[in-house]
Amino acid sequence: MFSSVSGCAFAGIYAQIVRVETDAAFGIPAIEVVGVPGSEVRESRERVRIAIKNTGYTLRQQKILINLSPAGVRKDGTALDLPIAIGILLANELIRPDRIPYLFFTGELSLSGDILPVRGVLPAVCAAREAGIAACVVPVANLAECADLTDVQVFGASSLRECCDFINGRGTLTGMSGNGYLREKRDGLKDAAAVSPDDFADVRGQTEAKRAALVAASGMHNIALIGPPGSGKTMIARRLSGILPSLTYEESLELTKIYSAAGLLSGGGLLKQRPFRSPGTRITLPAMIGGGSDVRPGEITLADQGVLFLDEMPEFDLRILEALRAPLQDGFVRVTGLRSAYTFPARVLLAAGMNPDKAGTGGSREYLARISGPLWDRFDIGIRMKPVGYESLRDTGSGVPGAYTTETMRQAAEEARQRQLYRFRGSDLMFNSQIGPGQIRDFCRTDGNGERLLENFSREHAVSVRGYHRVLKTARTIADLAGSEDIREEDLLEAMTYRCGIEDVESKGEA
Ligand SMILES: Nc1ncnc2c1ncn2[C@@H]1O[C@H](COP(=O)(O)OP(=O)(O)O)[C@@H](O)[C@H]1O
Ligand SMILES: [Mg+2]
Repeated sequence: MFSSVSGCAFAGIYAQIVRVETDAAFGIPAIEVVGVPGSEVRESRERVRIAIKNTGYTLRQQKILINLSPAGVRKDGTALDLPIAIGILLANELIRPDRIPYLFFTGELSLSGDILPVRGVLPAVCAAREAGIAACVVPVANLAECADLTDVQVFGASSLRECCDFINGRGTLTGMSGNGYLREKRDGLKDAAAVSPDDFADVRGQTEAKRAALVAASGMHNIALIGPPGSGKTMIARRLSGILPSLTYEESLELTKIYSAAGLLSGGGLLKQRPFRSPGTRITLPAMIGGGSDVRPGEITLADQGVLFLDEMPEFDLRILEALRAPLQDGFVRVTGLRSAYTFPARVLLAAGMNPDKAGTGGSREYLARISGPLWDRFDIGIRMKPVGYESLRDTGSGVPGAYTTETMRQAAEEARQRQLYRFRGSDLMFNSQIGPGQIRDFCRTDGNGERLLENFSREHAVSVRGYHRVLKTARTIADLAGSEDIREEDLLEAMTYRCGIEDVESKGEA
């Protein structure tokens, strides 16, 4: 008796639909798995056999052959336990076959027959949806992450027994219409997203840095905050997370898939906020870039579409800093594991804090020079910060009232973001910082003396073509914040001062 059940395997963070083909025939009783199973999948034979027994089914004394198709890809993890169990039960004619072609199964089995949570349920269900499958049975503990999906039904099963009853048309699973589970999860989510981080209103003085933070968040421009200890670099960088523009549905789905595959989802539904990742200076190369034997995403991928904050950036391992160069340029990262190489998304806003007066480092020139020229070149914005004076620290009403609160900044960033979305409709660009060299002419039109202004600036500061483009892209965001269609002289001037903060350290070191 032959059966075929849909399940999935993982390649990095990407799910691939796998057909579990099972054949039971007379022969010496045994279960054999072919089709490039990884070690966990090979082990699943015993686990599944005992789970089936403890669910109350008796298998015939037969030789069972399981083929995982397509045979060309290696299958790792425990998510194939459930579809393998279903396949064996079908091949033994112990459950009904009529619903199976429309269903997809993923989940780990315990020896008692309980269905345990697995990583990557969201990308698995999305892949199943793309393959035209109508309904997915997932571990009940993973159901919440699928709460915001449309066009596919997702049900949660807690045990093999529950799953089999459902297949036989005798019971219901969690999440089936009518039990209100999904609605409940969705409503819960709104509250979670409303929790706000620390407010920009707490940052006294530093108007220039706060303005630069707004520009950075609006166009996802890389920003370096350079200043002595206690000037508020960390304070400002951390508050970036509160003013990042909202996620579109597609962005949110992509991001949540990454977190699902990494096993880092808590709560339910799609992620509603851009990530803010702040790894410590002792982080390892694979933890930053991605890797390991089962090829997990690194910090740069976990920060995709959000902020990667490197506090005290010159203190990071130089190999790590250099490894960031390519992904910062390309928006994706190449990760190589033992047997395979993957491309993971890595579109981040890099925020860096650095203290140029670091004692015992042979002077600030050497210290900041740990960051190579090409890496400096990845920054659009460099801001020199001075410690705020005692006066402005004490002055509770410093600055223009209401000018730089998280709420007003978030709104301004959101409006600039909407202008960008409109400008880039039909392309895969999302933010001004992502405009390619070939698109600069189309998207970054200057008016008046803009062209001449830029040429003078490039000559005086010996700016590279890349630097020139970066100024234009930052100016594009500044014009978007002002609601201007063309880039005006004042937008260029502001963008140039930001770039000067980079060019100065890069070319001359600390004066
Ligand atoms: N501009 C500022 N406004 C209010 N408090 C500040 C400011 N700058 C520094 N502080 C105070 O100093 C502490 C250290 O600031 P921090 O952002 O960590 O400085 P840095 O990262 O530049 O060394 C903060 O927790 C805050 O109490
Ligand atoms: Mg700090």
